[in-house]
Amino acid sequence: MREKLVAGNWKMHGSLAQNKALLEAVSAGMAGVKGMKCAVCVPAPYLSQAQSLLQGSAIAWGAQNLSQHEKGAFTGEISAAMLLDFGCKYVLVGHSERRAMYGDDDVTVAMKFEAAQKAGLTPILCVGETLEERESGITEAVVERQLDAVTGRLGVAALSKAIVAYEPVWAIGTGKTASPEQAQAVHAFIRGKIAVQSKEIADGLVIQYGGSVKGANAAELFSMPDIDGGLIGGAALDAQEFLAICRAAQR
Ligand code: PGA
Repeated sequence: MREKLVAGNWKMHGSLAQNKALLEAVSAGMAGVKGMKCAVCVPAPYLSQAQSLLQGSAIAWGAQNLSQHEKGAFTGEISAAMLLDFGCKYVLVGHSERRAMYGDDDVTVAMKFEAAQKAGLTPILCVGETLEERESGITEAVVERQLDAVTGRLGVAALSKAIVAYEPVWAIGTGKTASPEQAQAVHAFIRGKIAVQSKEIADGLVIQYGGSVKGANAAELFSMPDIDGGLIGGAALDAQEFLAICRAAQR
């Protein structure tokens, strides 16, 4: 059975003081939570803080982006090796905000995925359609294109050491969650598509749902057969909300 993964995506939020309070509260609350995996993807300047506060705990940490390049004249960029230096396990690639605002197209996302994996990080590949794309009936085509960019470059085997997060853009930060049935349909599509190439990889692949997940709707979403946890934005900034979501992901 796949163990569910709940990962917080803090986006550009936090401060040393706020993070300390949040991470201490989440660590304390996680003590009684078993049978799921938990992680936080923090802004890069706070990776060192996450490392010192979470080291030895059940909570993994990661970053929200990385460079596709190993090193060199790339001012302002952060490499996979640098993330590893701070103990990161995960890194988000292709979050819709990066696709929309920072030029992370399918090829760049695939290169970042490759750079992460090559260094030993677990990429969390974010895919998902905009409202306009959903309304034009091309949700599956969009998600398929985003997945194919990675498997076309690296082969389906690359997904055996990665996480996929389905995040409909229209549900991110809007309070408009996809219904469990809407999300399940896309998750099943993703798993089915990968199963055509490898049933084993498809069966083992953790596919998270992201988009306005909260304590109040997590259990219903996570009860769907192909939803293996969540990628959590806003609710990850509130320890009690985040913990409620983690508890909903327990086996
Ligand atoms: P949200 O964000 O939970 O605030 O909708 C999810 C995400 O962007 O990963």
